[in-house]
Amino acid sequence: MSIVKVESINKSFGKKKILHDVSFEINEGEILGFIGPNGAGKTTTIKLMLGLQSIDSGEVYINGYNLRKDFEKAIEKVGAIIESPDVYMYLSGRENLKLIANLYGGISKEELDELIKTVGLEKRIDDKVSKYSLGMRQRLGIAASIINKPNVLFLDEPTNGLDPQGIIEVRDLIVKLAKERKMAILISSHNLSELDSFITDACIIQNGKVVTNCPIKKLKSLDVPKYRFKVNKVKGIKTLFANKKIEVPDDETFELEIDKKEINSILKKLISNDYEVYSLFKVSMSLEEAFLKETGGNSIE
Ligand SMILES: Nc1ncnc2c1ncn2[C@@H]1O[C@H](COP(=O)(O)OP(=O)(O)O)[C@@H](O)[C@H]1O
Ligand SMILES: [Mg+2]
Repeated sequence: MSIVKVESINKSFGKKKILHDVSFEINEGEILGFIGPNGAGKTTTIKLMLGLQSIDSGEVYINGYNLRKDFEKAIEKVGAIIESPDVYMYLSGRENLKLIANLYGGISKEELDELIKTVGLEKRIDDKVSKYSLGMRQRLGIAASIINKPNVLFLDEPTNGLDPQGIIEVRDLIVKLAKERKMAILISSHNLSELDSFITDACIIQNGKVVTNCPIKKLKSLDVPKYRFKVNKVKGIKTLFANKKIEVPDDETFELEIDKKEINSILKKLISNDYEVYSLFKVSMSLEEAFLKETGGNSIE
């Protein structure tokens, strides 16, 4: 079921048009990667979806409620972090969560412990937040944003500035929330490669326009097998395989888009033409390459 539906939203700031007919949907349990370079319009879109800024035209529906007409109902079960989470550095993680829970009428000790366990902060929850790593702070922020048990979560660049370990921690938490709580999650990033291992869908935005919006499976299915050959020389190689899609990144390497059934005949051809083959392996396409193939466009950043 579609939990979040963004229908053709437009937004200008003064004379400058920022968003052009942006549309996408998120179903329960899905993690939509909202990907685009800095300035593409990601934060603006998220702010519009939270009613923090007004929409010029178009509609947003959350849990079936129209954000414009039924704002309180639409926003009731939404958690969000825009830019960075707001936490008190001089308080402990637990104290921060209690403060926020109080805004929603409090939380039982059991529920709080459960929440802390969900975000994996059991061991450090009573330390001051100023002692936390960025990844821990981000997870505390996510804990705070799900205190009132939303089924929708918007995270604006939650992996920004994190080290690889921090990215893994946040990623695992997001996957868990989507799986175990069936949440509909939007996560924005300017870096497709940071997200490509765990998002279920990708919506790519450039200059305020959605250029690709599809399940990751579809992007991955565009992956064509490519084999990388290491050889003693590449002179004449393009002519030898003139009928194939070939790339020659350096003077000992070439890559062919071929089926594995063709490998033997390629090797025979190389050997009979006096090439020495040092190694051969399959390379798979990154999501970014798949995206480029799909759009025929420029690189994302
Ligand atoms: N309040 C504002 N007033 C004027 N221009 C804005 C405002 N907020 C964002 N913008 C402009 O809108 C564009 C998109 O910004 P933003 O949504 O922050 O992009 P992203 O989050 O993808 O980096 C940028 O060109 C930015 O300068
Ligand atoms: Mg932004």
